[in-house]
Amino acid sequence: MINVTFVCLGNICRSPMAELVFKDIVEKRSLALSFNISSCATSSYEVGNPIYPPAARELEKHGIYGKHRSRQITKSDILNNDYVLVMDSNNLMDVLRLTGGEHGHKIFKLCSFTDNPRDVADPWYTGDFEKAFNDVYDGCNAFLEYLLKEKKQAFDYDKRH
Ligand code: 4NP
Repeated sequence: MINVTFVCLGNICRSPMAELVFKDIVEKRSLALSFNISSCATSSYEVGNPIYPPAARELEKHGIYGKHRSRQITKSDILNNDYVLVMDSNNLMDVLRLTGGEHGHKIFKLCSFTDNPRDVADPWYTGDFEKAFNDVYDGCNAFLEYLLKEKKQAFDYDKRH
């Protein structure tokens, strides 16, 4: 089982988009049994709130639907996940502050797996939900390709079931 959590500032735009996009990708590739996928916020600003409607509409344009409530990251999220995938450098600093600099080997910027490492700009501020979706989609695909190439044995679970 590969445990993955996606992290952004509010957990109502980018990280729930990434959670639902990645769930969709692994389901379509019949790899869902190998994963436990979640998302959370570095802040408490939006705790309990659903996906921001423009982000939900962007997902729906791509046939992706899902229920979600924002929650704030805790140290358990770091301990219980193999990969903590943040959207930007601010998220990275906030998560490292929470861990006191430990567990850095689990923490990656999502788009660091792509050929064009970059932040996923926050659509809460930019208003560009299409760009956020495209960056998240690119990052999620690149992350899965990385796992398939570098962590092949982690997918045994799907082969056995
Ligand atoms: P997200 O976007 O980090 O992609 O979920 C944000 C959503 C809400 C806020 C900031 C960023 N906020 O300040 O409430």
